[in-house]
Amino acid sequence: MHIAIVGSGYVGLVAGACFADMGHQVILVDNDQQKLAALNSGQVPIHEKFLPELLERHRGRSLTFSDDLRAAVEASAAVFIAVGTPPTEQGHADLSYVESVARIIPSAINGYKVVVEKSTVPVYTSEWIRKIILRNAAPPDSFDVASNPEFLREGTAVTDFLYPDRIVVGADNERCAAVLRTIYAPLTGGSYYKRPDAIPGPDQAQIPPPLIITSTKSAELIKHACNAFLAMKISFINAVASVCESVGANVQQVCQGIGTDSRIGPRFLNPGIGYGGSCFPKDLMAFRAVARECGYEFRLLDEVIRINEDQRQRFLRKVHNALWTLRGKRLGVLGLAFKGGTDDIRESPAVLLVQTLLQEGCKVAAYDPAAQERAKEVLNSSIEYASDAYEAARGADALLILTEWDEFASLDLDRLHRELKYSIVIDGRNLYDPDSMAAHGFTYYSVGRPAAMPESVPVEAVVPPRKASHS
Ligand code: UGA
Repeated sequence: MHIAIVGSGYVGLVAGACFADMGHQVILVDNDQQKLAALNSGQVPIHEKFLPELLERHRGRSLTFSDDLRAAVEASAAVFIAVGTPPTEQGHADLSYVESVARIIPSAINGYKVVVEKSTVPVYTSEWIRKIILRNAAPPDSFDVASNPEFLREGTAVTDFLYPDRIVVGADNERCAAVLRTIYAPLTGGSYYKRPDAIPGPDQAQIPPPLIITSTKSAELIKHACNAFLAMKISFINAVASVCESVGANVQQVCQGIGTDSRIGPRFLNPGIGYGGSCFPKDLMAFRAVARECGYEFRLLDEVIRINEDQRQRFLRKVHNALWTLRGKRLGVLGLAFKGGTDDIRESPAVLLVQTLLQEGCKVAAYDPAAQERAKEVLNSSIEYASDAYEAARGADALLILTEWDEFASLDLDRLHRELKYSIVIDGRNLYDPDSMAAHGFTYYSVGRPAAMPESVPVEAVVPPRKASHS
């Protein structure tokens, strides 16, 4: 099938590369000339496993890059809109990029087209896209608008796309649904997975994935509701972790106890320093705003957002409790990306924490395996950038773990101990076992678990947590 994808951001680029790998002919459209030149010259703009292989496989053959939206629409049966929907000041999704694409499509309609929303958009967007296309003189039966939300996570985007739990298609008639069914047939029919050159999937993959057909409005809601639910799960466990800290319980044990209830499940129950990234913070605000517009005050979401913000403050209090005053203290920081496996620092709780620590007068030496270049665009030379975890720890008053990179979970603890000025580790991602840290001579603070001290540290040195001002 001939497919146009408008917008070569995270979702557009991954979808384009994966559709090409599924056997489709894809034109990826963007108006950013620099980006197009980079893509054409073989650069891979995002850090994403398997993406370089896929681009190498299909670039210039079944995947081409262009700035000509009209020509791409003319050549395609389906047009996926994957442009950005950034938040406005009021927390709404800014849909002006979506609208400008919808305005151009009618002039290129030369046969039946399915226009597919791939960006995360509020409910009713498909109706607006339809109205805009009709307003610009497209015959009503020459196109349909479908919603096909994407559930990929950064870091595992390619395998999330090719091995999804499910594919959701919102289509209000069978003609339109049939086009999407054909596009996804290599996955839903299972043929993709039999190919020797198929990208390998995760162990637990559901093969073949089910295709769920809904109304377009339901599909739009599924995307927002899904992200809101996952963020709620994270805030819930962060709130439980706070209670654990107050009573001396261990959130890891609590997670094991509740995550094994098949109705709850163990995933997205990792407490930490709060969720970040380009999706959850923005989508929760947008979902709350759209609910309000439709007459429903979604107060549960207010609380999810509040707990998330509070989680960073709680972590800062731990740093204070461990070090007393912060001015002039040197801190080693592990992780700047908003989560492990990505170079993305958008809404990164790690970067927000570093900025606050700098305001408090700390000196920071940070290491991130992938996000350092991006972090430099925001933090400039306000911090030192280390070339590995041990260099970040060198001479530091304490080491903070802020991103859940796998490599941070398997450090040489004896070496780390030697590098630090004081052997204090404040772990915002619970990467280590407290007892083992104490056995290696560390004073170790984590989230929702009792602090651990080496035997040589007197009990009096364990400062009780300061009470949160709002609690
Ligand atoms: C999220 C969703 O997981 C995807 O399904 C969705 O497609 C995507 O948003 C989107 O809307 O485009 P992503 O933002 O890439 O994906 O990252 P997640 O893996 O969901 O992590 C989000 C944040 O939550 C990170 O800061 C992560 O560290 C944090 N997190 C995640 C926790 O604190 N605890 C957990 O148990 C899981």
